[in-house]
Amino acid sequence: MSSPSSTFTADGNERQEFPGGPIRLGSDAHRVLFCRTLLDTFNPYKPAVIDWPPLDDDARGRLVSLPIWDIAVQTEGRARLNVASYTAEVSDSLLRRAVELNAFEEGRHKHVLSNLVQAYGIELAPEPPYPAPRDPEWAFMKTGYSECIDSFFAFGLFASAKRSGFFPEELVDTFEPVIQEEARHILFFVNWAAWHRRTMPIWRRPYFELKVFAVWIYLVWERIGIAKSVGGSSADNNFTLTASKSVHEDISVAELLDLCLSENERRMSSYDRRLLRPRLVPALARWALRFIRPRRPALHGPRPNS
Ligand SMILES: [Fe+2]
Ligand SMILES: [Fe+2]
Repeated sequence: MSSPSSTFTADGNERQEFPGGPIRLGSDAHRVLFCRTLLDTFNPYKPAVIDWPPLDDDARGRLVSLPIWDIAVQTEGRARLNVASYTAEVSDSLLRRAVELNAFEEGRHKHVLSNLVQAYGIELAPEPPYPAPRDPEWAFMKTGYSECIDSFFAFGLFASAKRSGFFPEELVDTFEPVIQEEARHILFFVNWAAWHRRTMPIWRRPYFELKVFAVWIYLVWERIGIAKSVGGSSADNNFTLTASKSVHEDISVAELLDLCLSENERRMSSYDRRLLRPRLVPALARWALRFIRPRRPALHGPRPNS
């Protein structure tokens, strides 16, 4: 496949386009496109040289009181291990390089967060051990689908924090590459899942679909808090929603979902249109909005004279 060209979207984002016509999901061209998209959009920033902006007491207090830092650091640590463990199962060299890059970026997110908490004097709980997963494919899928949920809410939350002025703009901008990396990861992941299920032996497919179903059940279970009481984990797995209340008290659920949807659209708009986009969580958000959006009051104005 030839090298990508860049165009610009209506809001000024650079769009990566690979030349060529339509691609079939599960084809070699599909594999090259979703792997190259991840590899070619790599941002080489270095956590060690990030200049954390000084915060006044109020801003620092708000940052320290966010109840997300332990779970955020631990989630990135586990994500790195889950993704890295899957590289051993990948025989295709291009796909392996892409999965390795994904794992590297998860490790870098942890590094960025660790530097942030250190820079602002946030105390973390001791990290639990991260045992190597017994089933790397399950672990990779758990991280992938989990990011599909968390990133969707993080997109809206991040935009909300920016609008409300909860954090100074320099701090928000410092985090921008991390958020966009999660958009790249979920784009990569849903295309991997589509490619993987189409290229595996037919006899394995029912087992894979069962696994996908089981991952979603697990993630829902984890998010409604059952995992917390049964597994003894102190982490709050609903951290993106918990944080939404902290960064923008006045935002309604409908407004937050609207913001998540528009930000998801914007962040995904810069990648090749032939790639699949994560669909389930945005579809659920649109469905939920039909019930929770306040109905417009009926108009009872005077009738025009006939
Ligand atoms: Fe991450
Ligand atoms: Fe990620």
